[in-house]
Amino acid sequence: MSRHAVVIALPHEEMVPVSTELRQAGFEVLGVSTADELESILSTRRNIALAILDGEVDFDRSLEFYALLHDNGRSIPALMVVSPRAMDRLTANVTKTSINDEYFTRPYSAESIRWRVEAMCIRSQTVDDGSGAILQSAGIELGDWSRRATVVAVFSPKGGVGKTTIATNLAATLQLRKNQRVLLIDGDTVTGHVTTSLGLEQVRTMADAWQDEAEGGEPATMLDVATAHPSGIRVVDLTDDPLHMADLDPERVTQAINLSRRAFDYIVIDLHPSYGPLNQAIFLEADQILVPVTPDVPALRAALQMRDVATEMGVVERVKMVVNRANSGVSVTDMERTVGMPALAQIRSGGLLFVRAANEGRTVIERFPKDKITEDFETLADNVMGPHAVPSVAPAPVRGLFGRVKEPIRV
Ligand SMILES: Nc1ncnc2c1ncn2[C@@H]1O[C@H](COP(=O)(O)OP(=O)(O)OP(=O)(O)O)[C@@H](O)[C@H]1O
Ligand SMILES: [Mg+2]
Repeated sequence: MSRHAVVIALPHEEMVPVSTELRQAGFEVLGVSTADELESILSTRRNIALAILDGEVDFDRSLEFYALLHDNGRSIPALMVVSPRAMDRLTANVTKTSINDEYFTRPYSAESIRWRVEAMCIRSQTVDDGSGAILQSAGIELGDWSRRATVVAVFSPKGGVGKTTIATNLAATLQLRKNQRVLLIDGDTVTGHVTTSLGLEQVRTMADAWQDEAEGGEPATMLDVATAHPSGIRVVDLTDDPLHMADLDPERVTQAINLSRRAFDYIVIDLHPSYGPLNQAIFLEADQILVPVTPDVPALRAALQMRDVATEMGVVERVKMVVNRANSGVSVTDMERTVGMPALAQIRSGGLLFVRAANEGRTVIERFPKDKITEDFETLADNVMGPHAVPSVAPAPVRGLFGRVKEPIRV
């Protein structure tokens, strides 16, 4: 028996392999090519889990489809298939994306999109109450997924070296260019501004959720509390009250991070520049600790100090230097020698691009996809993922079960 039904509106050369793959996985596949067809399906069918739309080749039609998915109180998630170069146009036109919508970049394999569909189904349960598909946020413990997100903390004890810039743009690169599901945590309420630079004002924070729970409310996970940014990343603030930053219980925060590992591929955390108990707990939890270093003596000293602290804590092998504003004339080799570790990647100076993107609540990856700075972040993302990067939502053992390796679909 079919599980969920998936609507597909893709160019023919993609429609065939994707439909075949999804049918083999037990999904009912409903291909549509006109708005009338989609409307008729939506008015009669109650088990539509999501729709896979083309965000590029026939973009105007997809906008019509997208509107129908959200008409009449419906909220059927859309998986928008795009090329990185089309992302700019898409994010400019689809401003009101739902938290359940996701992007998927070309080229891709049918198998990888199938895993994304599986993940979207796990994350939201389709409930039929007779009025159409209603999506409920699924408890993440429902997902019997063997995946475990990689936790990447971005830290330096020095302010202004680019922690927030690197955390935010790395998160967007992993999500948009590498097809990874990313949770971005703002762990720096005091000097940080992840949510404001992403145009997400007055969002509910984890501290709010824990307060509500203490007053008898339902417990909430980071996934429940997170807000969707148009880039597709989920963003969660630990607290918006700088005075109470120090009151956050480190154990509670790391437990919440751990619980979120099942629902994401990468969890990127922007940290406050201090060695307080919360940050120490996060260092112990993180798989990688990226230390941005600008080419100046205080930033180099800060990185050296962090290396010593990490050595003392037994986590030095997780610490990786990222040279920021790298094209300033100072030799990266000299910086590597001074800090005593190789640079994982180099981010050049982006001039005002960061400011211009932040003014629109966007990352440079979305706003300036063709700029060299976006390439720098792509290299950083590649190096964070490493040579054995697992494709989106495809846990290695399960891939083995199917025993098939498929060529990416290129259009
Ligand atoms: N590569 C870069 N090119 C141009 N501007 C940059 C670059 N990296 C960071 N900046 C700018 O430098 C300023 C400080 O960067 P950012 O806020 O990311 O640092 P931070 O380490 O998070 O600071 P804080 O410790 O205060 O939170 C920002 O205005 C940011 O736009
Ligand atoms: Mg910051």
